[in-house]
Amino acid sequence: MKESFDVPLVEDAKYYEVDKSYKDNARTRDYKKTYREFLKAPDVFWEKIAGELEWFRKWDRVKEWNYPYAKWFVNAQCNITVNCLDRHVNDSRRNKVALIWRGDDEEERIFTYQKLYHEVMRFANGLKKLGVRKGDRVCIYMPIIPEQLIAMLACARIGAVHSVVFGGFGVGALNMRIQDAAAKVVVTADISVRRGKSISLKAIVDEAIINAPSVERVIVLIRDKEQPVELHKEIEIDYDELIADVPSECPAEVMDAEDPLFILYTSGSTGAPKGIVHTCAGYMVGTYYTTLHVFDLKDNDVYWCTADPGWITGHSYIVYGPFCAGATVVIAESTPDYPDPGSYWKLVQDLGVTIFYTAPTAIRMFMKVGEKWPNAYDLRSLRILGSVGEPLNPEAFEWYYEMIGKKKCPIVDTWWQTETGMQMVTTMIGEPMRPGFAGKAIPGVVADVVDKDGKPVKPGTGGFLVMREPWPAMLRTVYKNDERYRKYWETIKDCYTAGDLAVKGKDGYIMVIGRADDIIIVSGHNIGTAEVESALVSHKAVAEAAVIGKPDPMKGNSIKAFVILRVGHTPSDKLTSDLIYHVRMTLGPIAMPHEIEFVDKLPKTRSGKIMRRVLKAKELGIDPGDISTLED
Ligand code: WTA
Repeated sequence: MKESFDVPLVEDAKYYEVDKSYKDNARTRDYKKTYREFLKAPDVFWEKIAGELEWFRKWDRVKEWNYPYAKWFVNAQCNITVNCLDRHVNDSRRNKVALIWRGDDEEERIFTYQKLYHEVMRFANGLKKLGVRKGDRVCIYMPIIPEQLIAMLACARIGAVHSVVFGGFGVGALNMRIQDAAAKVVVTADISVRRGKSISLKAIVDEAIINAPSVERVIVLIRDKEQPVELHKEIEIDYDELIADVPSECPAEVMDAEDPLFILYTSGSTGAPKGIVHTCAGYMVGTYYTTLHVFDLKDNDVYWCTADPGWITGHSYIVYGPFCAGATVVIAESTPDYPDPGSYWKLVQDLGVTIFYTAPTAIRMFMKVGEKWPNAYDLRSLRILGSVGEPLNPEAFEWYYEMIGKKKCPIVDTWWQTETGMQMVTTMIGEPMRPGFAGKAIPGVVADVVDKDGKPVKPGTGGFLVMREPWPAMLRTVYKNDERYRKYWETIKDCYTAGDLAVKGKDGYIMVIGRADDIIIVSGHNIGTAEVESALVSHKAVAEAAVIGKPDPMKGNSIKAFVILRVGHTPSDKLTSDLIYHVRMTLGPIAMPHEIEFVDKLPKTRSGKIMRRVLKAKELGIDPGDISTLED
């Protein structure tokens, strides 16, 4: 991590007030008072929330904190799907719309809670038929379609641990994730649809399972009925056939509070991604609470989060949180600029979306194409806007506030991570908003900005964003790499180190600046420099590679790679595009370098570590800082 840095923080705070009606009706009506109550009795705070949910057996203790290991709702038993489905089916929400899916050709599929409940149980029985049992890992590699969510919930129903892999990842990335988790079953679809074109997902799975001996079966949902893919019957099985003759009742597996619920991979500082492990009860309570309180969700809301369920945002705020809270959830297999940049606003208008949660990179894209697109649609249904994934810069905040929210909707800029499982820092509905600043720790969370010794930094001084106390939805370990888990809590004494740089204003509002490590956030996606470097080095022409992030007005960052070629290879435009294509095939389009520079040498420390910092400083024309460890 960096040792120190300066930030240009101006303290001429500009706040945006929210109409009083929001505060009066908010679930957390008084942020300060609620926060004080939480601090006084944290366990009572969480216990009250957990008490709103259904359990097979209640906890003996709310938490057990054995630094750096936490257990929440000790000895309780539950199943998250009981709270996502049974709870609603057994009450007045039975016929409420749970899920509306929109395809990119505007095809629509609608599931009531009752229907979703039975679809989940049928697929759960299908998995059981294939021998999937509690604790087995199931990899889900699907487009954004209802079956992707159904597969996740079906795993949770029977206690299988899902590992959802974003449908845009390439062969190498998928293979690594299947192998690390030793997945027994892969669930996929023949195709995903993007900008009117079909992309074969199954072809990627075919290649990705070649070196993955753990995989016993591949379940393939066949979407293209006109030209159905051929299945290799020994290993592949048709999704529809699998569930054709199974019962539509499947009792929920009794899970211990601390049994794993899922693994989700995120980029790390090495070439191998980290399998973040989340467990049943704490994650359930954390995502349920934040969905209700951060979005101030009401029963008649129509809630649309534009993320892919393949990322944590989708896990927590498309699937588990919203369904636990009984929301009407919208998902769309669509792109913000297809068929034109009005596609999202048309959907908001058509479905009467009230809560809209997206990423700054999308907002900046909308800014660029101009307000004529949102202005062409009726957005009056919108009530609350959200942002996640990277800093929401003040210009983007203002545009979002004026053009989409019409100076009426509060914006919740939510800071959190795959590791935190739930939203942690934001401005609660009704509190004044400060553009550029995510806000404060929500009730239930203790966040701070500190120096490397864990001492709070002065307002206006940069530091590291940390959590001082455990929280229910926190990661419990890194799959098969507990040492990596401990690092989160050992880097800065007595704190969970998020890996982000931040500044706190005098008012306590936190501005998140960016990553403190070698992770680059490109269009809201975390990409490890080491992942891209190892993908490059796996190409026969490459001897060594170093990758940096360059600020980009739209994507937040873009990827630039410096490459040393092996003897016998010479730089050319063709080689540049070959290398970019190679990374695309290995990791997927999101990790493609934007620029490649061929070099003869890379700056290294005397111990041989590449100093990306020096490359970056040179690229941006800034001072590289301390270079005393540089080789020459
Ligand atoms: C960044 C996504 C600034 C941050 C939920 C974090 C943000 C990483 C914000 C986690 C925000 C996320 N403001 N930065 N509101 N939200 N980040 O694991 O660097 O995909 O550490 O989780 O995204 O990304 P992840």
